[in-house]
Amino acid sequence: MNMPLPHAPLQRLDEQLQAAQAATPHVSVAPQSAHIGALIAGVDLGRPLSATEIHTLRSALLRWKVVFFRDQHLSHSQHEAFSRQFGELTVGHPVFGHVEGHPALYSIAKHRQANRYGNEPERRPWTGWHADVTAAHNPPAASILRGVTIPPYGGDTQWTNLAAAYQALSAPLQAFLQSLRGEHRFSPPQGANATAEYLALVQQNTLVSEHPLVTVHPETGEQVLYISPGFLKTITGLHTRESRVLLEFLWEHAVRSDFTVRFQWAPGSIAFWDNRSTAHVAPQDIFALEFDRQLYRSTLVGAVPVGADGRASTAISGNPVLAAHGAAY
Ligand SMILES: [Fe+2]
Repeated sequence: MNMPLPHAPLQRLDEQLQAAQAATPHVSVAPQSAHIGALIAGVDLGRPLSATEIHTLRSALLRWKVVFFRDQHLSHSQHEAFSRQFGELTVGHPVFGHVEGHPALYSIAKHRQANRYGNEPERRPWTGWHADVTAAHNPPAASILRGVTIPPYGGDTQWTNLAAAYQALSAPLQAFLQSLRGEHRFSPPQGANATAEYLALVQQNTLVSEHPLVTVHPETGEQVLYISPGFLKTITGLHTRESRVLLEFLWEHAVRSDFTVRFQWAPGSIAFWDNRSTAHVAPQDIFALEFDRQLYRSTLVGAVPVGADGRASTAISGNPVLAAHGAAY
């Protein structure tokens, strides 16, 4: 496979990050792989950040797509305050609710409601990969996940860079994909034997949206292979078999190990990712272990995606993902 060459937006992001770092020499940014992930140290997320620190963190996020922090033992309120410095917060989860007393936090426990499909997990390599809530018309711009109870081993998270994945495709296929849009739907996996409780929650706010298969990132200008395997169900206008085979190729391509990074959690770890240019997965190995795992997530309000052809996404069903204070659910 031809690996992506550095392209103009990436060079600009490198320059922007270098300039930001020059103003914050106490903050280190250590890349974790060729295409994605950087470990940031030298900053205390439990207190208000300076404008230059915020600029460095934001620049590192845009360049490396997911940034990691260690030994940040934040309270729920500190987690919300840290997140708010980067944008408006959404309600914890548009379908599964929020932490009591903290409307912007979603509890990611090992046996949470969203996992209760009651079915056997699929075994294909892209099973479980997704970007957060892409069934919404305006999926979150970013997610901030904090580890509290962490197993001694197992329960890692992986991310993949969907701009790098797009860059690695041939020009004719890139051009074809730019003409396509796909339907993202919040529903149990096909054939799943979902519990009645799960179905009731999903049906009270059925999220369905049509997004371009290639989006333009609103801040970096990068073109992104906007496929979220967990939510993207069909490609509009293609025959069923064409859609299925093309999606399976794209999903397999997008999660190739070349484009990914894997993070081993510890109590106090934080992962902050750009939800517009990445997908992520929690490997299922945690369910083979007896250990518990508890994380908390906040998400930043996102804009409606726009395709490489200039057309915006369209809402088919469900409410937009609003800021936590204005949410109706
Ligand atoms: Fe997620």
